Amino acid sequence: MRRALLKVVREQFRLEWRGIHGVPHWTRVRWNGLTMARENGARLDVVELFAVLHDSQRFHDGRDRKHGARGADFTLQLNCELLRLDRVGLEMLTHAVRHHSDGLTEADVTVQTCWDADRLDLGRVGIVPRPDRLCTEQARDPALFELAYRRSVR
Ligand SMILES: [Fe+2]
Repeated sequence: MRRALLKVVREQFRLEWRGIHGVPHWTRVRWNGLTMARENGARLDVVELFAVLHDSQRFHDGRDRKHGARGADFTLQLNCELLRLDRVGLEMLTHAVRHHSDGLTEADVTVQTCWDADRLDLGRVGIVPRPDRLCTEQARDPALFELAYRRSVR
């Protein structure tokens, strides 16, 4: 992961760094997303940034309905040098972060890959992801689905 960005995010992160919405989760989301992106052409840079940013503005580990919106706003405030993203990538990223817990499935493949990468890690909170709530065929692929699930509950 990008060190400079991680440092900025960590400085203001309110929850446990290694908690259920902390860095071990982001690492698995990154891995899930990059694995899918290699197959479906999703943008790697957006997927990586999503992993670090999507839960970065949580106030608690519960439902916290507005954390996606806060995460998107935080993303827009970050220095461009930290993100190194073009305009289209930034739009994809902020959309993905803003709506990642809204249960949506329709979007650009990069955004869908971000959402699926997060959903494939639900095992850590005792939830088996539902294939019909995943967006991409890559996430529903039994091999990846199983592997991601096993990593999530470890
Ligand atoms: Fe997440």
